[in-house]
Amino acid sequence: MSRGVFITGTDTSVGKTLSACGLLRGLSSRGMIVSGYKPVAAGADLIDGRLQNDDATWLARCSSGHLDYDEVNPIVLEPPIAPHIAASAAGLVVDLERLVDGHQRLAEKCDFVVSEGAGGWLVPLNDELHFSDLAVALGVPVVLVVGLRLGCLNHALLTAESIDHHGARLVGWIANTLEPGMAALEENLETLERSLDAPLIGSVPWLGNESMEERIGRASASMNLGLLLHELRN
Ligand SMILES: Nc1ncnc2c1ncn2[C@@H]1O[C@H](COP(=O)(O)OP(=O)(O)OP(=O)(O)O)[C@@H](O)[C@H]1O
Ligand SMILES: [Mg+2]
Repeated sequence: MSRGVFITGTDTSVGKTLSACGLLRGLSSRGMIVSGYKPVAAGADLIDGRLQNDDATWLARCSSGHLDYDEVNPIVLEPPIAPHIAASAAGLVVDLERLVDGHQRLAEKCDFVVSEGAGGWLVPLNDELHFSDLAVALGVPVVLVVGLRLGCLNHALLTAESIDHHGARLVGWIANTLEPGMAALEENLETLERSLDAPLIGSVPWLGNESMEERIGRASASMNLGLLLHELRN
């Protein structure tokens, strides 16, 4: 049976894509057939005659074998703004069923699907739905990427509370170091470990001077995949 997780974060630009790619690399090096999934992306460039989003491109690159762009990213919107606003400007209604079907198709041909939201947990998809509803509809547990910087405790605790409120399961969290020399880093980590009701499954150091490929390798090496897979079995 195919498994998967939905990656959310404490904010935009906190390392969801880096963490998702790290998980994909790690799982595939354990012999699993993996796919990345970016159901809705806002912020894309015209490449080879079609809009392509960077996150989706990296997720596809870290997936096993070839996947068509549409399979990894069914809804791609050009402006880098809130997805429901970009969708409305493009005259498009984000349809949950289409996104769930896309996930199902990937799940059928692989062992593990790593889905990435956009921005944070409650980012709207349209006037009625949020990414939280999509995560619940996909039926997979949630991994929270905490971007370690001042303010992250509040964002992490609010997100964890809302994940619980929506009936989803927080299966683990990833600490991602967003800046070198953050004040009271260890104390923040201790507070998060005490406060979040899920295990720390990855601790990604600051990787400022490295290429994206190197960052993904380091992020992958920073994941406790054994613990994640153990939690997913429970
Ligand atoms: N630990 C780190 N060290 C150095 N750079 C990092 C680290 N984590 C993330 N970055 C860089 O910060 C940028 C934002 O990270 P990433 O794209 O993974 O965030 P995101 O949460 O997926 O953002 P979005 O909300 O746009 O999807 C990227 O260039 C990424 O390589
Ligand atoms: Mg991303």
